[in-house]
Amino acid sequence: MPLTLTIETAKDSPSGAAVGIGVLAGPKGPVIQTGVSGVNVGAKVLAARGFEAKLGQTLVIPGRSSSQILVGLGPAAELSASAFRTVGAVLARAAFGEAVLATSVLDAAPVRVDRSAAAQALVEGLLLASYTFTPYKSKAPVRALTKIVITGKVGRNVNSGVVQGQIVADAVALNRDLVNEPPMTLTPTRMADVAVEIGERNELFVTIWDEHDIKRERLGGLHMVSLGSTEPPRLIRLEYRPPSPGGAKSKVPTLALVGKGITFDSGGMSLKPSASMLTMKNDMSGAGAVLGVMSVISRIQPACRVIAYCCVTENMPGPAAYKLLDVLTARNGKTVEVHNTDAEGRLVLMDGLSLAVEDKPDAIIDLATLTGAQVVALGSEIGALMSNSASFRTQFLDAAERAGEDFWHLPLPKKYRRHLDSAVADMKNIGLPGEAGSLIAGLFLEEFVGGRPWIHLDIAGPAFTSADEGVITKGGTGVGVRSLIEAIMHFTPPSSK
Ligand code: BES
Ligand code: MN
Ligand code: ZN
Repeated sequence: MPLTLTIETAKDSPSGAAVGIGVLAGPKGPVIQTGVSGVNVGAKVLAARGFEAKLGQTLVIPGRSSSQILVGLGPAAELSASAFRTVGAVLARAAFGEAVLATSVLDAAPVRVDRSAAAQALVEGLLLASYTFTPYKSKAPVRALTKIVITGKVGRNVNSGVVQGQIVADAVALNRDLVNEPPMTLTPTRMADVAVEIGERNELFVTIWDEHDIKRERLGGLHMVSLGSTEPPRLIRLEYRPPSPGGAKSKVPTLALVGKGITFDSGGMSLKPSASMLTMKNDMSGAGAVLGVMSVISRIQPACRVIAYCCVTENMPGPAAYKLLDVLTARNGKTVEVHNTDAEGRLVLMDGLSLAVEDKPDAIIDLATLTGAQVVALGSEIGALMSNSASFRTQFLDAAERAGEDFWHLPLPKKYRRHLDSAVADMKNIGLPGEAGSLIAGLFLEEFVGGRPWIHLDIAGPAFTSADEGVITKGGTGVGVRSLIEAIMHFTPPSSK
């Protein structure tokens, strides 16, 4: 659902608006930002209310005509552009019942803080924390806030940051909408329809393969996983080509994205217990992130070519379902013996990765809610990153940090590859129960990247949340979108080492 919250910049705040005011944590206590008139709250009151101006702390002071929302910025020396994402989020939450919110909080930042990046982060925080998903509520809780005005010294830098923040928030919201949609409506067919709309709006080259194309094109993983469902699978390919100043023949770097799009993961014949199924509409979050990014690609206009693949199907235990000990043949010819039909993500990704390799990209990034072991290892707020290229890994982790998303590097140990050995096929689809499940999944995928620089993001934990915290509200989080956009904007072909 599109955000119905407008953001503007203006020199002064409109009358009647709630005002967000930054407060730095000084050595002798809270210091209210300068240049804001009419703040009449003393040190005693702040102390009595326990307000120490820690980053993200808020204090609402109701007024006769409008209220003031004090927001802690922490010590000036520690304030970063990225911190404004938190500032935006807590301001939006505190102002939920206000009609208009105005804030010049960016002016409280020391000069070393990049104003454009800070404005972008602030707007991302404001919009992401205001997100709600209500199409299925017969009585939707009403968010009063309809307008946010960024005030104070708003020059070109702030304005461009505000625009970029809105673009990123739109992309994240699309992914969250897709994840939050019930699996009965967000079917593979519907995902493909969304991709076609995205392609039209962004003037992309679109290819959709239906169940017949998928079989004919030898996508043995996606085809076999789909058989237990009455919903037909889809393979989505979207391609963005940058406007090339050097003519059509000039060579631009190419980045391929591959997303896992299981619109519902029941586990298949290796059926999950009910409680484990209860978040499994989120199993298309990787593909949702890819679509989120592509939905804004003509607005961010990166200099590189971006090719996106989404492997989309349900994983169900219907009468035609694939079975344990079946042997599948991937698009690149490798054979896989199925030892667990619930390890289906890698089976659809192996075909997506094989296809991506055929495009000869300079690098590949895949995103997938791939393993429960990722949640055990890193919890629900940190994603796992595995890569065959140290330079690409560093490039991506830098981008993720700027985007305010947490990923942690895990290894791809060659000595564990033997756990995938199969007696009858090239490999099986699981390793030893309870041992290094995320790494084994990464090693499996590595077989399909043709030695190209590649990053695998396992987002099983951070894709879904049951709490309203930080910039994110309950449900799908849209994780990966922010990092991907930042990485695409700064992409340079990595070396394969
Ligand atoms: N979609 C799940 C992984 C998952 C688990 C995502 C929890 C989000 C939260 C995936 O398809 C799966 O079922 N993986 C199995 C693999 C196992 C059979 C090797 C798992 O992690 O249990
Ligand atoms: Mn599964
Ligand atoms: Zn899955």
